[in-house]
Amino acid sequence: MAEEALANAVGSVVPGDEAKFKKCDQIAFYRRQKRVHKTQYLPLLDTVVITEEGAQLELQDPVTQVKLLLQVCAIRDGTVRVTINELKPIRERYKVPDVLIGKPVCERLKVVRREKDSLTLGWGSGQNRFRVGVCPFVLEVLCEEEVTVTLNPQGMLYFETLQHPPKPGLSSESNEEEAREPMGLWKETFKQFVDVKANGPSSVGLDFRLHGFSHVYGLPEHADSFQLKDTSEGEAYRLYNLDVFAYDIYSRLGLYGSVPLLLAHKPDRSIGVFWLNASETLLDIRTSVDGLLSTDEGASGRRQVSTHTDLHWMSESGVIDTFILLGPTPSQAFSQYAELTGYQAMPPLFSLGYHQCRWTYKDEADVKEVDAGFDRHDIPYDVIWLDIGHTDGKRYFTWDPRLFPDPVGLQRHLEERDRKLVVISDPHFKVDPLWPLYLEAKQGGHFVKDRAGGLYFGTCWPGESCYVDFSSRKARSWYSSLFTLDKYKGSTASLFVWNDMNEPSVFNGPEKTMPKDAVHCGGWEHRELHNLYGFYQHLATVEGLMSRSGGSERPFVLTRSFFAGSQRLGAVWTGDNVATWEYLKISIPMLLSLSVAGMAFCGADVGGFFQDPEPELLVRWYQAGALQPFFRGHSAICTRRREPWLFGDAVTAAIRAAIQQRYRLLPYWYTLFHRAHTSAQPPLRPLWVEFPGEQDTFAVEHQYMIGDALLACPVTDPGVTEVKVLLPGVGQSWYDIHTSQVFRGGRTLSFPVTLDTVPLFQRGGKVVPRKTEPGSCTADLQKLPFVLTGCAEGELYLDDGHSFSFQDRKQFALRRFSLKQGRLLNRCAANEGQFDSGCTVQSVSFLGVKKRPSAVTVQISGVQKDCAEFQYQLEQHSLTVRGLDLDVGKDWEIRIL
Ligand code: NOJ
Repeated sequence: MAEEALANAVGSVVPGDEAKFKKCDQIAFYRRQKRVHKTQYLPLLDTVVITEEGAQLELQDPVTQVKLLLQVCAIRDGTVRVTINELKPIRERYKVPDVLIGKPVCERLKVVRREKDSLTLGWGSGQNRFRVGVCPFVLEVLCEEEVTVTLNPQGMLYFETLQHPPKPGLSSESNEEEAREPMGLWKETFKQFVDVKANGPSSVGLDFRLHGFSHVYGLPEHADSFQLKDTSEGEAYRLYNLDVFAYDIYSRLGLYGSVPLLLAHKPDRSIGVFWLNASETLLDIRTSVDGLLSTDEGASGRRQVSTHTDLHWMSESGVIDTFILLGPTPSQAFSQYAELTGYQAMPPLFSLGYHQCRWTYKDEADVKEVDAGFDRHDIPYDVIWLDIGHTDGKRYFTWDPRLFPDPVGLQRHLEERDRKLVVISDPHFKVDPLWPLYLEAKQGGHFVKDRAGGLYFGTCWPGESCYVDFSSRKARSWYSSLFTLDKYKGSTASLFVWNDMNEPSVFNGPEKTMPKDAVHCGGWEHRELHNLYGFYQHLATVEGLMSRSGGSERPFVLTRSFFAGSQRLGAVWTGDNVATWEYLKISIPMLLSLSVAGMAFCGADVGGFFQDPEPELLVRWYQAGALQPFFRGHSAICTRRREPWLFGDAVTAAIRAAIQQRYRLLPYWYTLFHRAHTSAQPPLRPLWVEFPGEQDTFAVEHQYMIGDALLACPVTDPGVTEVKVLLPGVGQSWYDIHTSQVFRGGRTLSFPVTLDTVPLFQRGGKVVPRKTEPGSCTADLQKLPFVLTGCAEGELYLDDGHSFSFQDRKQFALRRFSLKQGRLLNRCAANEGQFDSGCTVQSVSFLGVKKRPSAVTVQISGVQKDCAEFQYQLEQHSLTVRGLDLDVGKDWEIRIL
């Protein structure tokens, strides 16, 4: 069947297919938990045991006598962990493996106070504490004597203990109440799908109060605002990885990936709550005002009110395992999370360039023609992508012999221009007894099973398919081995990978995914690990590419589905959006949510996947995409071709300008990714991360910071001639990066725009490294000189851009630029690094120089060189020093006299 017909046949290209998906009240464990208003667990203080690992005590339900085990520990860098499990489960419950990067190092807890109805434990210098209150049971986390977070404030701790299946005939499903309002204990029906629960009800839930917080963020992936909303009206936020074509926007339905991390921010503290559970999860949020703190108006002229946010997490299965990141700064909260789940993988430089994708480039000639088109139109790009059409009948790891008869030749052709190929590799395998890989997987026991123990079959692009059980280490290592060059015929070292449909997408499954009663290795039901499936495919693919190069080359793998920890594997994108202005607009909050939840290498399909963008929208989308971490144009099979040169000269010129600017700025982006990799600071940041005390920034979601130095406000409305931009920071200067015109912060500016311009400002006091030219791909950039703009502080990270020698052999350089008393110093910022890029700094544009200097001199290793040629512009207060030719890797200084 032709692909287009196939896509239509599965009813998937019709935007807005939300009816396929559940609303919260169609989810049995949600109904069960919502029915109970309060549980009454009592902590048994005489059961407290303190060890090196933390403290534990029993909780007992006075009615059922059921006992739970509560464990608390204080992790060294300012995170607390709370786990709750059954004291004696009849079977083991699922504990999420492979997501935490190691066993957290815990502080020794000591009893600070023991009273009849409470126990207080402290650690470290005693600044932070836990207090367990008995009646009712609460667990408070105190920071500097202040209660910051309370667990179970409303008594919502809920724990369905595992039971033996009811004897036939006694099934609760058969009684009348169950018929009226089915609780779905052992069986749950949705449309024609019946989910049989081998282990019965096993859901868990807990509530939290975040004291003093009214702004909460994170929790991707939803097509919704960046600031999470109060859910008293409407649906809870759902975390359940689903393939939702042309998803509705402003919806809390779970999309392709899940990161159960919520961040809360107030002027003096950022905290996070990480709920480590891979089964279907729902979160209710309520923000309330406690009352006036004082009747006086505060210094700000605003009434001082105290607020709090209540969270109610509910998961279908597993245990309660939650981490509270205590900040207090946003950057500490980011690194506390990364210490648990890992830092962003350092991407190969090419992957920060522009990617050209389409479902589907027809054949080799088409690919070569598109590739040549970029050169002909002087538009830089690095990677061209092949969608499912390149395969032989949707058998991944194969090539259509008619359309792609010489894949190696094609890759060599691209390589001659230093460009790469990315191909798609989905998790489903066509059921084809004549296909050796299908047979290998089947014989090796690498596929997911159904509940009766047979192979699980579902439909996807190839028709009837089996799904690799990526949760199995053995299956993962088999899958990884498929990427070796001798096994993957037609692949070369310049081929990289795209994991799609890995929620997993099953066209004929419930909610278009795998039934929860399918079975994975170890006998675990799919329900336990559904949200981890994509993470595991990503992991196996990354390991495949790593071993292909013997561990020497950095992999690049894009995944659609993800979980906490996927950031250490590579990049994600926001799936099947639509070519309308609303989707361009929502892409910004969606990427901000991903970024603050650790998924720093993220992007949205530029141009919109479904439907045809009008040219103005296409231009605006390129301009936005060029200012976002992962930058890929992509379009669906049913859309018209849209390579950047197909819409007339003005559109081509505007797109060229956006992409060229991206390439010039790549040294800055690359340095930001080094920071994400080493200290967990996301390249794309909400304004409040940089201006944490400024309340006006808390609700901003259509502009953002790129690192600490650039503020971007992409244009997301048609026909506009000016844009309102909030420039934060009273006394802070901001420079229009095109004209160097200076603006004062602490106000909202009306900024004029044309089709060619996007508001992008450089923050005063920061240095941004750029390249003099955009080159035709990132490999060209590696040789080109730098220009530095701004003063007074900045960084530049350099390495070979592709290998792990920055890690294994310390072959990198980190330079720090700082301006002190009229001297711009270039100094080494990391002594252990050794890398000679061979590049020079050609010019420096200082911003904010109040008066014309009498001379500018250069000193290299303490020796003064000639006076440098400079130009001063009084109006902009800008000073440009040219013709420098200074080795970027050596110490030198420029003196403004
Ligand atoms: C769904 C993906 O989201 C889309 O990007 C891709 O083009 C199609 N699958 C076909 O592979």
